[in-house]
Amino acid sequence: MALYAMGDFHLSFMAGKSMDVFGSVWRNHVKKIEKYCRKKIRPEDTLVITGDHSWGRKLKECEADLEFIAALPGRKILLRGNHDMFWDAKKTEKLNELYKGRLCFLQNNFYSYGDYALVGTKGYCYEGKDSYEHFEKIRDRELERLKISFGKAEEAGYQKFIMFLHYPPTSIGEQESCFTRLAEEYSAEQVVYSHCHGADRYGDSFRGTVRGIEYSLVSSDYLKFKPEKILK
Ligand SMILES: [Fe+2]
Ligand SMILES: [Fe+2]
Repeated sequence: MALYAMGDFHLSFMAGKSMDVFGSVWRNHVKKIEKYCRKKIRPEDTLVITGDHSWGRKLKECEADLEFIAALPGRKILLRGNHDMFWDAKKTEKLNELYKGRLCFLQNNFYSYGDYALVGTKGYCYEGKDSYEHFEKIRDRELERLKISFGKAEEAGYQKFIMFLHYPPTSIGEQESCFTRLAEEYSAEQVVYSHCHGADRYGDSFRGTVRGIEYSLVSSDYLKFKPEKILK
């Protein structure tokens, strides 16, 4: 049994968006994702997919993308990314009903992996795209959602945590954030995130051990579309 993570599949079986414009690394990326997932992941394994699943804007436009993910080996746990318009955070229970036994949607809940709780939310960092006030509003909302995820796991008796975010845990140049402080408060062993694309962005946030927590970037292009083993 192993725990894997990879994010940012950016699928578009129905929305007609090609990733080729983002550089040669993305050529045949769907085929690569399928090939390496099938090669590495066993049916008893878990794969956490850290957001940006589909270019579709509505669930109807994402169905083929979600079917592709459902057909990959192992248990699949999905996190929301900034492009996942199909997923209204408040309607996560509905998605979990709809895809019961096939996909698990991580939002305001947690999933277990052995004696670990897998907790997470989209997160947020400041990228200069919106006003600082707007950034603070989204960040605070995401922090609350992360607290709910940790809180439910703690209530269920879990003491070991792996924390997943879509956005990097810190904005560029920051040495800490409300997300890293929460990870430290709960003594999370690892923080896993994606969202960063292209060599210029891979170093946006922490990679490696910071104040006792292991940080990993798992954007699909960074991993060359090979899922990363997080835990054995
Ligand atoms: Fe992305
Ligand atoms: Fe993203």
